[in-house]
Amino acid sequence: ADPLVIAVDGPAASGKSTIAKALAGRFGLAFLDTGLLYRAVGRKLLDCGLDPADAEAALKAAETLQASDVDEAKLTGDETGQAGSKVAAVPSVRAVLLPFQRNVARSAPGAVLAGRDVGTVICPDAAVKLFITASVEERANRRFAELHQRGANPIRAQVLEDMIERDRRDTSRSVAPLRVADDAHVLDTTQLSLDATLAAAAELVRLSL
Ligand code: C5P
Repeated sequence: ADPLVIAVDGPAASGKSTIAKALAGRFGLAFLDTGLLYRAVGRKLLDCGLDPADAEAALKAAETLQASDVDEAKLTGDETGQAGSKVAAVPSVRAVLLPFQRNVARSAPGAVLAGRDVGTVICPDAAVKLFITASVEERANRRFAELHQRGANPIRAQVLEDMIERDRRDTSRSVAPLRVADDAHVLDTTQLSLDATLAAAAELVRLSL
């Protein structure tokens, strides 16, 4: 049988990666958080003192990306997320990172990919497409709580402003903007617990098997 591909897209701090990872565990599939690739490219530029909006430098960083650069522990944090969002707007960067993502999607018995354009660009034929979202205020609250828990001292208004800016950049870029695929199931988690969201997502996957 063809590998089972599950696309999980959505805006920043929607919980898509958590949901995607849990689905991968439950159904025994590979897991890739595609945002980590963009974050890793953005991090490389920051570490070299370069501007993440520098398209030429971003392309070079993407072309020379190593597996060891894609280390989740080094890539959390909003500075890295914003840098990732800037390099993600460069079409050639997206093109360079595409084959790797499609390869993961081809792994047997299947894979769950989390991101922004998995259902629209990377895996348009995915068997199941989920779009996980929540209001921007709710997502900013979640991000605030997460930063706080990690010992940071975030400013609530700043976290919300950053979230609005990232949404704007992710939805307005010309290549692979964040949008709901026509055949995606939208899960609005503004009023939904993680457990309830996961149960709904798992049910949608089960129905497609
Ligand atoms: O999901 P995460 O916040 O880690 O992604 C970081 C940035 O990478 C996002 O703001 C988005 O611009 C970009 N991204 C993307 N396409 C993906 C995944 C992430 O453009 N498939």
